[in-house]
Amino acid sequence: MTTAASALKAPAAGSWSSRLMFVAAAAGSAVGLGNIWKFPYIVGENGGGAFVLVYLGCLALLGLPILIAEIMIGRRGGDRPSTAFLAAARAAGLSGRWRLVGALGATTSLLVLSFYAVITGWVLLYGFDYAALAIGQGSEVLDSEAHFSRLTGDARAQVFALLIVASAAFAFSARNAAGGVEAIMRWMGPAFAVLLFLLAAYTALAHPAPFDVVRYLLAPDFAALKPAAFGEAVGHAFFTLSIGLCGMVVYGAYLDSNASVPTLALAVATIDTIVSMLCAFIVFGVAFATGADPAQGPGLIFVILPRAFSAMPFGHVVGAAFFAAAFMAAFTSVIALAIIVSRAIEETFGATTRVASAITALATLSGGTVVIGSVSGAAPIRLFGAPLLDALDAITSSVLLPVSGILIAVFAARALAAEIRGLPFGRALLFCLRWVAPLALCGVAASRLL
Ligand code: TRP
Repeated sequence: MTTAASALKAPAAGSWSSRLMFVAAAAGSAVGLGNIWKFPYIVGENGGGAFVLVYLGCLALLGLPILIAEIMIGRRGGDRPSTAFLAAARAAGLSGRWRLVGALGATTSLLVLSFYAVITGWVLLYGFDYAALAIGQGSEVLDSEAHFSRLTGDARAQVFALLIVASAAFAFSARNAAGGVEAIMRWMGPAFAVLLFLLAAYTALAHPAPFDVVRYLLAPDFAALKPAAFGEAVGHAFFTLSIGLCGMVVYGAYLDSNASVPTLALAVATIDTIVSMLCAFIVFGVAFATGADPAQGPGLIFVILPRAFSAMPFGHVVGAAFFAAAFMAAFTSVIALAIIVSRAIEETFGATTRVASAITALATLSGGTVVIGSVSGAAPIRLFGAPLLDALDAITSSVLLPVSGILIAVFAARALAAEIRGLPFGRALLFCLRWVAPLALCGVAASRLL
């Protein structure tokens, strides 16, 4: 890469060591619990293939264009969310109020972190349990609803896991610019990929009828599709690509000005989609092998999978591999989320990266502890009548992400119109950002009200 920091129009302090590193980092952010935990269960709840089709449409028409837009805003305006919007708005003669989109993204990131880090902690605890069983040390029975309830009822164990997650994330987010992310992606990226392919191969070989699983995922049964599925597909397309929270603004800021953003964004979206499909194949392959109900909901990977692992040869090793892969995916997303919050604290309070990262870690710990209090029943807080964790997930995915994603689309279509028009498929991109995205938001709102 010939372009160094000098080529950046933004005040970003650093750049990726290569474009491949950008793709790795952005994929590390995108691939996470959304792919492993959430995608399979919402596909299950919505009846399989038809939902997958709607979801893929949302990815192509909304997700990819907004991903491109976010990266370009960061490359233009720098790695601090509000400042990036302000700089891009000023350059285009638009209102400085657009900076609020950056603030909204960072605030939403903190809300997501509060529950995301807790679930990452569950994955870690399951991973520990399976690792112990795999080396013949554990005695606990993992394959039951009771184990999951015991875990979610144990506030102390969850806070312990959260503490590990938050401090480990701090260790990487406190490093300057892209450095910490590169350091972790260099080995976690390949390790995750190897585990995922091994697990998929094992599922294909061990399953008596692997094509039934493929058919379930690809053959559309539109009768199973409820109107609310559309909103869910949009929300998930945003969540899984990490868009709407300005995470890609931050990572885009470290990109050189000659890089082809659409090509890199397409690479990220493709990796994310392949991972989601492989995860769904693994999860349903394992679940179907025991005759489980795919519409099980959020407990799918924590209750149904362990039951199936117990019934299969080398199940403990497979379980350990599954939860290790899930942890790596989730952890690199936690780091990406923490970096957004941290950059926002830097720009708001003039804090250094280290101090801002420490504050972010403490905020994650506090938010996560409140969520744990609600989950474990120690402090049964409810929000809009739902348990706190579910409410946070629903508010962020179904409301805040679509709203901020659409604002980003509309902003980019105005502030970066000339630049976007000059890209390959530039006119189509601009059309998606200007028209399809706002219309889709109306569609989501309507589908919620139906
Ligand atoms: N994409 C992540 C996942 O699928 C979650 C996520 C949503 C995220 N928005 C983000 C991660 C922003 C980092 C930054 O699990």
